[in-house]
Amino acid sequence: MKLGPLEIHTPLALAPMEDVSDIAFRAICKERGADLVYTEFTNVEAIVRDVKSAMDKIQVTEAERPVGIQLYGSNGESLERAAAIAESLGPDFIDINCGCWVKKVAMRGDGAGLLRDLGRFESVVQSVTRGTKLPVTVKTRLGWDADSIVILDVARMLEHNGVQALTVHCRTRKQGYTGQADWSWLPGIKEACGSMPLLANGDIVTPEDIKAILDLGCDGAMIGRGAIENPWIFEQAKHYLATGEHASAPSAEDRIELCIRHLKDHVALHGDRRGVTSFRKFYVHYLRGMRDSHPVRVALMALYEVGPIEEVLRGFLERYAEVPA
Ligand SMILES: Cc1cc2nc3c(=O)[nH]c(=O)nc-3n(C[C@H](O)[C@H](O)[C@H](O)COP(=O)(O)O)c2cc1C
Repeated sequence: MKLGPLEIHTPLALAPMEDVSDIAFRAICKERGADLVYTEFTNVEAIVRDVKSAMDKIQVTEAERPVGIQLYGSNGESLERAAAIAESLGPDFIDINCGCWVKKVAMRGDGAGLLRDLGRFESVVQSVTRGTKLPVTVKTRLGWDADSIVILDVARMLEHNGVQALTVHCRTRKQGYTGQADWSWLPGIKEACGSMPLLANGDIVTPEDIKAILDLGCDGAMIGRGAIENPWIFEQAKHYLATGEHASAPSAEDRIELCIRHLKDHVALHGDRRGVTSFRKFYVHYLRGMRDSHPVRVALMALYEVGPIEEVLRGFLERYAEVPA
């Protein structure tokens, strides 16, 4: 897939995820084979007003390239200005969020709300492309609901407007996260995309899932929750695609060491107290599948400093290694 000057073969992308895909988590996935990463979605009005929390979210680093800054909004002037501001921070591309389903975004016509008004959708894309010389990509859903699947028209409209890649979360806005992502739409979407690359998204969790969507004609895959559960998925999938065999699963030590490293990077980014509490959501994923980890998770929830958390995790690992499964 071409993205401006970049040529990326079968991109496996880490999905943009609010409160998850910050610089710390993006670096972890990048080191484990993610080819594309994105910032958390950020409101263009907040960027234009130079709100600190918004500006913090769209900082990018050299190590994570190629990286996209994801914007959302629908006011043309703000989109154009925010795209220019985002470009000045040095990302490789700008992604437009046209798929966020949450009420406060979609009901005011932003995010997935654009799927109800394709004229507005097109003018959003045109505003962003006016604001930046960088490649512009779009992430969206199938349609507003099952009776209004508009993704084929959307794909054609985006290609016509020079969008450089389309990612489709194969659910409707109405579905939120319910049901299964419907990958059966992908071959038709790919056809409607013409020369614009297509990344599939939604319920892609295993290397086999990735192979399945590639077999449906997609150019790449975007992985969200599957990467929170298993940041190794990118390199595991690459191994599987290259050899047809599964790479060995990360060891208990790999899981605990990565958890501690992620915690430290997260806290360095978000501050001691806030960082420790907002990191709590990750323990369940790092400890998944490890026997007797429940009391450890409970203990971790009561701690507010990195040192004692590290001690609990290392103590657990020592006990874990001593007792054979
Ligand atoms: C915690 C969380 C935060 C998310 N935040 C964003 C976001 O900022 N921008 C976006 O485009 N999608 C966001 N999403 C949606 C994901 O990018 C992705 O489309 C969705 O989770 C489906 O993919 P999955 O089944 O691989 O998780 C978020 C999803 C989760 C779980």
